Amino acid sequence: MPEPDFQLPDEDTPDTPFDVSLRPPLFEEFTGQEKTVERLQLLVEAAKQRGEALQHILLSGPPGLGKTTLAYIIGNAMGTEVKTTSGPVIEKAGDLAGLLTNIERGGVLFIDEIHRLQPAIEEYLYPAMEDFKLDIVIDQGPSARSVRLNLARFTLIGATTRAGMISAPLRSRFGMTCRLDYYDAAHLHKIVERSAGLLGAEVESEGALEIARRSRGTPRIANNLLRWVRDYAQVRENGVVTGPIAARALSMLEIDEDGFDEMDKRIIEGLITLFNGGPVGLNSLAVAIGEEAGTLEEVHEPYLIMQGYMKRSSQGRVAMPRAYRKLGLEPPKNSPQAEFFEGK
Ligand SMILES: Nc1ncnc2c1ncn2[C@@H]1O[C@H](COP(=O)(O)OP(=O)(O)OP(=O)(O)O)[C@@H](O)[C@H]1O
Ligand SMILES: [Mg+2]
Repeated sequence: MPEPDFQLPDEDTPDTPFDVSLRPPLFEEFTGQEKTVERLQLLVEAAKQRGEALQHILLSGPPGLGKTTLAYIIGNAMGTEVKTTSGPVIEKAGDLAGLLTNIERGGVLFIDEIHRLQPAIEEYLYPAMEDFKLDIVIDQGPSARSVRLNLARFTLIGATTRAGMISAPLRSRFGMTCRLDYYDAAHLHKIVERSAGLLGAEVESEGALEIARRSRGTPRIANNLLRWVRDYAQVRENGVVTGPIAARALSMLEIDEDGFDEMDKRIIEGLITLFNGGPVGLNSLAVAIGEEAGTLEEVHEPYLIMQGYMKRSSQGRVAMPRAYRKLGLEPPKNSPQAEFFEGK
């Protein structure tokens, strides 16, 4: 597979002095995920009324949908600071102890990529989450001894793109688990218009919608594309992002109308050309396209399934008629696959 010759910068890397944060700081400015937001607001409200720490919360879902953003919003709403770390960064029990003993009462510890915590560290986390105690062993050899640290009541917010990789004991210690879904074009449209306002970019409603449609249901991608389209309009046009200008700017990046990325294309091409449309097992498909099975299942597939390009059946993955049409092919009739097509 050729490497894409143009890589958009990740929006979260503060790369220019003009970087404006597009992260909504409050629940009220967070668009979409209504059910999740409503539940979280209720939890926050209840905890505040009782003057207690919020229960532990696990946020899961594909990259760029707002997990980190929500963690900060929760911290803001609780009026407390959020200490941030990430699963693979915590190497030793001492690292965890350092983090936990520095949290004030009611404070939030945010652990990103929590599925990548080492099993040994996870074990330390259990009593910390449940009883706000941490038993750590200090020193080695004959002088080794166990010390019990009492922790302030804190809230752990975990984020993961791989909910399936969270062990059952860890998962059960979260009082609430929220799964974020891809955004529809209407919500992304609102997000693009809000971001355009913050960036001071002149974007017509049609232009914002064009960006929204090609953003693969993902706010982070929408914001990245918005920055690109704004630059294009500034250099090639008179600066105003109209529908046609947005479309031209995005075709220059070879982003198609469905917002497919390299991996999306590879998956449906593999499914149809290598496995005759399926059904094919997850592992075989993963090997064929060169992606890890779990990542394929939890990061890439949900969007393709939501959009009706593929389906998970008990016999395996199946390409749907929309996937054939996307490749300019006629969906097969009277084939073993066709029995999966009903309703499409
Ligand atoms: N609901 C939303 N409304 C407005 N902007 C949003 C929303 N959700 C996400 N964003 C924007 O998208 C960007 C990416 O969101 P965020 O960093 O929270 O994603 P994430 O789920 O933590 O991704 P990752 O799994 O890669 O860490 C944010 O910087 C924010 O600007
Ligand atoms: Mg994040």
